[in-house]
Amino acid sequence: MPVRPEGQEAFQEELRFWVNGRYHVVSNPDPGMTLNKWLRSQRGLTGTKVMCGEGGCGCCVVMVTHPDLTNGGTLSYTLNSCLCPLCSVDGWTITTVEGLGGQKAGFHPIQRRLAEFNGSQCGYCSPGMVVNMYGLLTKNPQPSQQEVENHFDGHICRCTGYRPILDAMKSFAADADPEKGGCIDIEDLSKHHCPNSGGVCSNAAVNCTKGNPLLRCDQNGVTWYRPTTLEQLYSLLEQHCTSQNRYKLVCGNTASGVYKNDGPYSCLIDIKAVPDLHICQAGPPLVAGSALSLSALLDMLQTGSDRSPSYGVLAEHLRKVANVSVRNVGSWAGNLMMKHAYPEFPSDVFTIMEAAGAKVTLGWKDDSQTVAVTDFLKTDMNGKVILSLEIPPASPDEIFQTYKVAPRLQNAHAYVNAGFRMSVDRQNGSVVTAKPAIVFGGVNKDLVHASATEDFIVGRKVTDAETLRGALAILEAELKPDNSALQSAEYTKQLATGLFYKFYLCAVGRESLSEFVRSAVDPLVRPVSRGEQHFKTSEAEWPVRKPLPKTTARVQASGEAIYTNDLPRTAGEVCAALVTSAVANCKLGTLEFSHAMDMPGAVTCLTAKDIKGENNCNVPFISPVTPRIELLSTGEVLHAGQPLAVVIADTQSHADAMAEAVKVTYTDLKPPILTIHDAIAAESFHYPVFEKTKGDPIGALAGAPHRISGEVASSAQHHFYMETQACRCAPSEDGMEVQAATQAPDMVQTAVAQATGISAHRLYVSVKRVGGAFGGKTFGSLIPAAVCAVAAQNINRPVRLSLNLATNMEAITKRAPYVLKYEVGFDDAGRLIAVVYNLFEDNGSSAQCSFIPILPAFAENVYYCPNWQFTGQTCKTHTVPTTMARAPGISAVHFFMEHIIEHVAKTLNMDPMDVRRANMFQNGQTTLSGHTLLDCSVTKLWDDLLESAEVKQRKQMVEDFNKEHRWKKRGLSVVPCRFAVHTNFFRFTVFVAIYHTDGSVVITHGGVEMGQGIDTRVTQVAAATLGVPMEMIHVMSTNSLTSPNSSDTGGSVTSELNCQGVLECCRRLNERLNPIRQEMGGAPTWAELINMCHRKGVDLSEKYMEHHPPKSPHPTYNSWGVTCTEVEMDVLTGEREIRRSDILFDCGESVNPALDIGQVEGAFVLGLGYWLTEKCVYDKDTGRLLTNGTWEYKPPTTKDIPADLRVTLLPNAPNPYNVIRSKAVGEPPLLMSCSALFALKQAIQTARQDSGIGDDFFSLDGPATVEACHQHCLVDSSSFTL
Ligand SMILES: Cc1cc2nc3c(=O)[nH]c(=O)nc-3n(C[C@H](O)[C@H](O)[C@H](O)COP(=O)(O)OP(=O)(O)OC[C@H]3O[C@@H](n4cnc5c(N)ncnc54)[C@H](O)[C@@H]3O)c2cc1C
Ligand code: FES
Ligand code: FES
Repeated sequence: MPVRPEGQEAFQEELRFWVNGRYHVVSNPDPGMTLNKWLRSQRGLTGTKVMCGEGGCGCCVVMVTHPDLTNGGTLSYTLNSCLCPLCSVDGWTITTVEGLGGQKAGFHPIQRRLAEFNGSQCGYCSPGMVVNMYGLLTKNPQPSQQEVENHFDGHICRCTGYRPILDAMKSFAADADPEKGGCIDIEDLSKHHCPNSGGVCSNAAVNCTKGNPLLRCDQNGVTWYRPTTLEQLYSLLEQHCTSQNRYKLVCGNTASGVYKNDGPYSCLIDIKAVPDLHICQAGPPLVAGSALSLSALLDMLQTGSDRSPSYGVLAEHLRKVANVSVRNVGSWAGNLMMKHAYPEFPSDVFTIMEAAGAKVTLGWKDDSQTVAVTDFLKTDMNGKVILSLEIPPASPDEIFQTYKVAPRLQNAHAYVNAGFRMSVDRQNGSVVTAKPAIVFGGVNKDLVHASATEDFIVGRKVTDAETLRGALAILEAELKPDNSALQSAEYTKQLATGLFYKFYLCAVGRESLSEFVRSAVDPLVRPVSRGEQHFKTSEAEWPVRKPLPKTTARVQASGEAIYTNDLPRTAGEVCAALVTSAVANCKLGTLEFSHAMDMPGAVTCLTAKDIKGENNCNVPFISPVTPRIELLSTGEVLHAGQPLAVVIADTQSHADAMAEAVKVTYTDLKPPILTIHDAIAAESFHYPVFEKTKGDPIGALAGAPHRISGEVASSAQHHFYMETQACRCAPSEDGMEVQAATQAPDMVQTAVAQATGISAHRLYVSVKRVGGAFGGKTFGSLIPAAVCAVAAQNINRPVRLSLNLATNMEAITKRAPYVLKYEVGFDDAGRLIAVVYNLFEDNGSSAQCSFIPILPAFAENVYYCPNWQFTGQTCKTHTVPTTMARAPGISAVHFFMEHIIEHVAKTLNMDPMDVRRANMFQNGQTTLSGHTLLDCSVTKLWDDLLESAEVKQRKQMVEDFNKEHRWKKRGLSVVPCRFAVHTNFFRFTVFVAIYHTDGSVVITHGGVEMGQGIDTRVTQVAAATLGVPMEMIHVMSTNSLTSPNSSDTGGSVTSELNCQGVLECCRRLNERLNPIRQEMGGAPTWAELINMCHRKGVDLSEKYMEHHPPKSPHPTYNSWGVTCTEVEMDVLTGEREIRRSDILFDCGESVNPALDIGQVEGAFVLGLGYWLTEKCVYDKDTGRLLTNGTWEYKPPTTKDIPADLRVTLLPNAPNPYNVIRSKAVGEPPLLMSCSALFALKQAIQTARQDSGIGDDFFSLDGPATVEACHQHCLVDSSSFTL
């Protein structure tokens, strides 16, 4: 029974707050409910999206305003609504994307600009981007472009490649080109539109409660308190600090994004309303209350940096902690407490504050105590609260630096962080006058200070090389990294040593170092990014070929675009969740549901025996056979993440909690096979070897003047679509209605029919749009849809299933890893003579989707070789089955061919660009798959790009730079691509109807709108062909009724084929309209014409199936492109910066150049993730995926893209092989992303040469992570010199 703290008036027991200007009172709120869930499920404000629930993606961002207990007045900032407890918003004002504008109220300038700049593709990230920008402009109406870019460190967009989003947002900057939009008028910024009335609401920000009362909410066995004085807080702590009453203090609650399984707690105490915890003294020493957010501390430190430069260093480091929206609410105290609870947590705050000599003051009922930050770690915090932090300034003779090296530049925890402080007497021979602070985080859970090294250095001269030598030797002995599956001990140790060396050189003094050595000290500098887009368009044909934004871009930016999981709930609807296996390669023992059924909201649990149709979630595709894959396991457990059962509850959170509560036992546990090498060793394969041969490869190889052999690999990749898998199934009079987030409605229809036994004609499948797919919503959408349908069928109620990110990443398919073993023969000029190519594909536990048979059509890329032997084997491992993913397998074999070319070049000591040019296909030459090329334009593209990107001059500059810098290296690489487009295997049914009522036109097509702009493109084609304005045309959801039997949206050809289908429908309609038009004198208005046609009984609708049955297995045509990428790398850490990429791509005659540029950039950046940062790691004992969330898995963010990105669509290049004259664009540009990896490889090669031990050729596998790049540089501390 909750007790009222001593001497306190009555509790307030309901929440009162404002959302978009409207007052809300919530009685009896659930302390476990987040603001995100409440907005979406209780208020229908689904513009605020949800994806990770970890603060790692930004799609859930909202703006809040509340009283500022530090400075008075009010405080407005953005936060991640997925981490914000609803209970904490009492007295606040919340602004969601709906509050900014929309169709009814008029769009907000930020929404408009994002749309106009083509910054919204699938649109799932767009509302979060808009609100984030709104938060920045509210705080600072005239930011600089740099400030705008810095502000987008917590948002993931998987579609656009960020450039257009950043351009849109930077157009509001004070230093932006006014022609691009200019700053926003403050009046326009702060208007809050009521989403219901459309009118302008009164300024909601003034509505915040002043002086919060003591609050208590109690539900589901958890009590939430909000004390308003320190006394109340202490009193509550005293009541709850017994072990039976597990309590937790809550400040920003962001730690729940990192340690998700923390708890359970029976008592949560919100400390934000305690004024004593908001103290703030500029100092020095600077004193900050514990409720101050990281952003507030950062601002204080920044302001204080002119008093003490060390404050500036700390502020700079805090900018690298988490992201803006996490820092806005996450407190420094909460961060320190995470380190306290989880010593292995690489807390940046702890490391830098310890290095700075900061102290924390702790308080409890009877006393308080001030301790050093390290001593705080050893203090029992039960019943205590952190009150404040005191940060002394560094003294004038102290050198103070901090470092953080992470898998990704932004929003990533550190591999290693470090803080160093050292007093050096420059007047007296640079002697170290006091014990320095050498502090590391991330090395092992116990190491804080490298104490022996600190002791060694004191009293010695830093300028003495022996001091450095001795310090390094001691440090290396002191550093004993923990073993981790996610980070090698070697790297951790070398990185920590490298950071120490960087600092040591600072202590010696930059000015006394040669430029060669000084390169260790200077950080990589990233300028504000920029982009150029070049294309030609034929205005005579507009609206076809016009560079238009997506027709739905504005409603996407305003949050009004509806995704499957946004659909309003229907009566009786419940939610399902998957129970998945925690281990691989075993037998299912028992499933114990009783605990789960006791959970709140539980409805029922289902297993394989409840499947009324076939327990199989696979459907026929390109694999030679269609292996059966159990939808729910009947006993065999092949991979961790495999679905075992389904649980159903009243809400998705309750269903997810139920799934966690199901107790599963396993038997016959055997070690899992997790890699291609394991599979080869165990001879674990799905199919016999696939072979394709051209010429006499073995004989030619034997006779070749030069021969090489080697091995290279690429890894898996999560699609990381922002909208996770979702489906809603509703039993109906007709059978069942299925609304699925799928790019393959036809496959979903087949899978649902199979699992339920309901025949296809009773299943109506529809999809309006998906929030990204990239191949992951073909096979990937079958399990969610089939399971959801089975659940709906069993309980005869509408069921919705929306996977949480961890389940999505563990249970649903991903891109396949590959290994190539090769032997190659070539002549003195580097021309290929023979390629013997043994390819291994990891298909996981089932070869649902092996690409081996189609890969010979892509393996050569643009290079001719007369003798080829291609063998391919599909490996069977105990991982989730692999599947299509933007350029599946194709991107890997393309990279492998480029790798071979680089190997040839290195062997002959030639420039790889010369070897590339020497081997390029000429028209008339025949490929490995027997296709004689007639459309080869690669040499022209190559020569054009080399000139436009000034490759020769820049290459010389790179070489000069590398000679002058030992610890920074640059690389420049040019990579061409050929993507063989096969349209013949696809079919799409299109339907166009004109309504006699007003002449408006409706289209449904067989493709799925997933960001590529297919709806816009077909609208352009229809408008141009029928001669009506685009506004008169609307595209309805894709569905199984009007577009039956359509292919999945993939292969980069869906837009083109559906455009052709619409063109044909419109032509046929014109054939029927034209005679009437002539009868009417040739110039009736459109409405008059349609009206007359209707009266005369003309059929005003047309359907057409676009399909060209394959006449041969050869491609319809090829897409060509060339990309040059330049990078710079820090040799001591492996961090890198993509300085510039120039992409020249042959898009034929683009239907919409703006959208095609978006596809080029988006594909390229998705590929950058594939080749540079996205790594899948499994637990080697259980086979469980360790990288199953945003904390460990790192897709690119805004600063991972090229700082200078120039895209050109090849002009005057109509595609003669289709009537629309455009070319496929969705996948081909991704092939060229590996140019960044090869540029890094060159940078690494020069670092290896400098080391004197590594001039040989080496393989740089994908992904070339920060760690991998560093490890290939062969850095040895013996080369650390002064
Ligand atoms: C996406 C993401 C990225 C991140 N990246 C980084 C990173 O790069 N580097 C890094 O160092 N950290 C990172 N973090 C961690 C982040 O800094 C912390 O989550 C945040 O600082 C915690 O503060 P909070 O106020 O939200 O704590 P809460 O979540 O509210 O609380 C965390 C813990 O601290 C306790 N606590 C809070 N305040 C007090 C107090 N005054 N006295 C006693 N106990 C208290 C709570 O009881 C709880 O146990 C990241 C977090 C997220 C979500
Ligand atoms: S859903 Fe909130 S940050 Fe991803
Ligand atoms: S548009 Fe950004 S995730 Fe799709």
